Amino acid sequence: MTSNVAANPFLSRGFEPIRMECDYAHLTIKGEIPHDLDGTFYRIGPNPQFAPRGNYSPLNGDGMVHAFCLRDSRVSYRNRWVRTQQWTLEHAAGRALFGTSGLPSDMDPSVAAMRTDGVANTNLIWHVNRLLALEEGHGPIEIDHETLETIGAWSFDHKLPRNMTAHPKVDPDSGELLFFGQLSHRAHQRRPRILSREFGRRVGQIAFDPRTFRGAGS
Ligand SMILES: [Fe+2]
Repeated sequence: MTSNVAANPFLSRGFEPIRMECDYAHLTIKGEIPHDLDGTFYRIGPNPQFAPRGNYSPLNGDGMVHAFCLRDSRVSYRNRWVRTQQWTLEHAAGRALFGTSGLPSDMDPSVAAMRTDGVANTNLIWHVNRLLALEEGHGPIEIDHETLETIGAWSFDHKLPRNMTAHPKVDPDSGELLFFGQLSHRAHQRRPRILSREFGRRVGQIAFDPRTFRGAGS
């Protein structure tokens, strides 16, 4: 990456991108991991593959998934970029093509009019035995929970036509995943909707007009 990286607070210190994909079988541990602690901690965040074009916004940086696997008092680590369409095109080009600022002038002309599956950089959820990478402007992308390889877009069996929020919630009683998304280009359907998905069975949707919605107690 070039010098503009160090000048940007979202590309330096604690936000500095990891520039490689790697696997560590045994991380160095200070202290002691309880023997009965067994499982994997996942995290995701923006981690641009190349020096960004123009002003960098972390909201649109390439998503990277990290996994810390704890077993037998040991910890292994693995990280992978999500193979989005943007990441794949830029990887082939060997440089950034898509701007992160939202300004058309920051885009390479070859991709200026392109619609993609986003950057998958905001949140990870585990739902119906699938690890899903989420980002507000696009649909989920499924990740292999062991290898962290990108499996591909997940649209709830083709029932999610567009984007969904990156912050869905699970109903603890029903197990339903509740989320909203903007589902149509048609002007009269541009208002958000709430979708619910029962485990493995269906996607329902409820019309939701934010102009009439009030939270509890208001
Ligand atoms: Fe968000």
